[in-house]
Amino acid sequence: MGTNAIPPPGARRPLGGLRRTLVAGALGTLVLGTFAAVTVPGSAGASSSASAAATTLGAAAQQSGRYFGTAISAGRLGDSQYTTIANREFDMITAENEMKIDATEPNQNQFSFGNADRIYNWAVQNGKRVRGHTLAWHAQQPRWMENMSGSALRQAMINHINGVMNHYKGKIYAWDVVNEAFSDSGGGRRDSNLQRTGNDWIEVAFRTARAADPAAKLCYNDYNIDNWTWAKTQGVYNMVRDFKARGVPIDCVGLQSHFNSGSPYNSNYRTTIQSFAALGVDVQITELDIQGASPQTYAAVVNDCLAVPRCNGITVWGVRDQDSWRSGDTPLLFSGGNKKPAYNAVLDALNAATPNPTPSPTPTVTPTPTPTPTPTPTPTPTPGTGACTATVETTNSWPGGFQTTVTVRAGSSPVNGWTVQWAWPGGQSISSLWSGQHTVSGSNVTVRNAPYNGSIAAGQSTTFGFTGNGTAATPTATCTSP
Ligand code: XIL
Repeated sequence: MGTNAIPPPGARRPLGGLRRTLVAGALGTLVLGTFAAVTVPGSAGASSSASAAATTLGAAAQQSGRYFGTAISAGRLGDSQYTTIANREFDMITAENEMKIDATEPNQNQFSFGNADRIYNWAVQNGKRVRGHTLAWHAQQPRWMENMSGSALRQAMINHINGVMNHYKGKIYAWDVVNEAFSDSGGGRRDSNLQRTGNDWIEVAFRTARAADPAAKLCYNDYNIDNWTWAKTQGVYNMVRDFKARGVPIDCVGLQSHFNSGSPYNSNYRTTIQSFAALGVDVQITELDIQGASPQTYAAVVNDCLAVPRCNGITVWGVRDQDSWRSGDTPLLFSGGNKKPAYNAVLDALNAATPNPTPSPTPTVTPTPTPTPTPTPTPTPTPGTGACTATVETTNSWPGGFQTTVTVRAGSSPVNGWTVQWAWPGGQSISSLWSGQHTVSGSNVTVRNAPYNGSIAAGQSTTFGFTGNGTAATPTATCTSP
């Protein structure tokens, strides 16, 4: 199960001119000059002298209930210096490219998790948790998706979210459901093929994600939303506020925090973190790197996160400078096998944190204010007329719409092809359906299996789902198998 996961260095970077116009000037020289003198290769005694001080980033972050993560590239898992540092220092892992759309669905409806699983397995076997990155994004789309538009693309997005989240169901700490959807100027949405499917694409992605894996925290992730005064920050803030007000499921905001001369750290970063957190979401620093790796700036970033209880984790975007997507900026915490001054600044800041902030709620218990009462999602198990049964469950609802998951279960014999049917009680209609093929006749709906989920082993199940228009309903459904 090979994938085309890793683009060559510099390939298809999603960033505009602003973020690429970097000056490797005085700052970098200064820091590098300091670096040779201050590097402490060992860990013992490298930071504060208190005997209780933790000696790795992950352990230090855990003292206050937080994590400290890194991006990992599957192509480097054979490099023992890399894996030794990564395993020792970090307790949260993000795949740098391997869980992106082009890697996980290289051909439509053919999912491919080879390199993604390599990273996932490495992380879990070493006792680490995993952040999922990313499900809906204008960049690093496979060619087939780049060429799509309209309702076909909307459906493909939903299908992709379901396919990937289903593979990792119950295993991912947080998903970056939507990445980089806002414009660099003006505070509005970025134009993209996904945006052109309709402004509701982001909330549809989040509703789909919640239904696919209710255990994962669902994040909106972006860059240049670190500076509180920037229009883009305000645009994302307003979207999150609107989502919370309308009950669209969102649990966290990811601040990428790629800091450089075009997008420098600003001391209002703490205000940004506090403001998002006050909306009732977690804040995670998801892709931190700082051009030149000033120890002072790294410490400021960490301290700003530590100041806000709901800022519950920090991830740096790579292990060593040589692993960075911007290696020329020397923006990370290690150089070769050596800890840089910024490493010690981060470790000291983490060790100085107040222990154990109030843990943030898990997604399933996050109270989401809904303007209309959510109908009770009573699962309706129905006797099958053939060798299968279908259970209809409302997994989400909002004014004028709802989302449903249907579980198709085989009886005591395997099923090869299935058909589920029901009648709408009150004029409902399907707006988009995934993992099945549907036909409608008046109020009657017939759903047949998709090409890839018709075979169900005895006693096992598969699911399909849809978003609907109208008032949520849980009709009795029948399942037949030829
Ligand atoms: C970058 C990777 O680091 C590179 O290897 C790849 O060539 C392009 O993507 N925002 C994101 C990340 O959300 O996925 C990007 O990662 C960096 C910017």
